[in-house]
Amino acid sequence: DDPPSPTDAPLKAAPLSPSLGLDSSATPFSPGSASDSSGYSVFSGNPSLNPDSPSLLSCDYIASLNPGPKRLCLVCGDFASGYHYGVASCEACKAFFKRTIQGNIEYSCPVVNDCEITKRRRKSCQACRFQKCLRAGMMREELVMFIYVIMTHYFPCACVCVCLLVSEPAPLRAAPDPATPDSDLKTLLTLCDLLNRELLVMIGWAKHIPGFSGLSLVDQMALLQSGWMETLVLNVVWRSQGSADELQFAENLRLNESQCRAAGLHDLYTALRYLTSKYQQMGLNQEEVLTLKAMALANSDAENVEGAEAVQRFQDGLHEALQDYESSQRPSEAHRAGRLLMTLPLLRQTALRAVRCFSRLHRDGRVPMHKLFLEMLDAAI
Ligand SMILES: *[C@@H]1O[C@H](CO)[C@@H](O)[C@H](O)[C@H]1NC(C)=O
Repeated sequence: DDPPSPTDAPLKAAPLSPSLGLDSSATPFSPGSASDSSGYSVFSGNPSLNPDSPSLLSCDYIASLNPGPKRLCLVCGDFASGYHYGVASCEACKAFFKRTIQGNIEYSCPVVNDCEITKRRRKSCQACRFQKCLRAGMMREELVMFIYVIMTHYFPCACVCVCLLVSEPAPLRAAPDPATPDSDLKTLLTLCDLLNRELLVMIGWAKHIPGFSGLSLVDQMALLQSGWMETLVLNVVWRSQGSADELQFAENLRLNESQCRAAGLHDLYTALRYLTSKYQQMGLNQEEVLTLKAMALANSDAENVEGAEAVQRFQDGLHEALQDYESSQRPSEAHRAGRLLMTLPLLRQTALRAVRCFSRLHRDGRVPMHKLFLEMLDAAI
């Protein structure tokens, strides 16, 4: 049944492992395997997830961070052997997806593109099976990374921005609890839930940043723990670019000054709007904001970095990418890259204010927060 292709190397040996958990070499089904031994509880198990919340579970990244025993393959329903290409799946569907993307195979369905894919019938229609893989969230990460490797070989640095664009996750939507009446508290609850999910997506996104996955697990975590809020701040600031006085946390969660004040977020509003207007004046574009997000992580001055040289190379790669991007795309603005880099201190300051704001909300006991979010707040303060 679906023998692995000759190129189907074990995950451990693949430097560009497609698994989405941070530790790409650990067996995803032993919860907390590497995380516990390195003393980081943040990414082990799933303490922050509320299984009753469908909006949380619908996110593939979250599923990939949510290992549990006896998972089923999301493609065919057989027992899953782990998370492959970001999705709980069995060996057969993993191998099938890999063969398909590596061979660039195009299938066509002999019927009407809605064949049922089960363990027994998964081989009956390759087209529908591949569609199901994609719908389940399997990602062509390896393909993206492969292109990246080729590109950097021939065109050093030219494609980091492209790569970041390719991997930018779709924006999340706020998911207000319909049972809670509208109030400032509801605003806070919705916001904290949104940020928690955004944090999980960001952790998945970080793995796509060229160079990040090459760092040791401990260093990846160290960078995430100190740089996460800067990346979330940049997301909000970027989404708020088109607005004169609102903060757009999500397409369906925009807050103006008085709403923020009422929810106890006035400091946050002031800090985020200040940074937003800075970037508005500069006319930031998407490639730049993505590169800045990656740089915020790379440059987070995390303590306890074990591979300082590797982190340095990671930073240098992003720096070169930015320089290269600006000199090719905005040659008339000679100092553009430098000016963007000079916004990083303000970004850090803004993120620190955001961390303080949420820590205060937590201290005051106003909103329950997810455990992951809390651990990250603690690590960032
Ligand atoms: C802020 O938004 C609320 C709700 O949409 C609205 O009632 C209020 O007038 C707005 N305040 C300002 C100053 O725009």
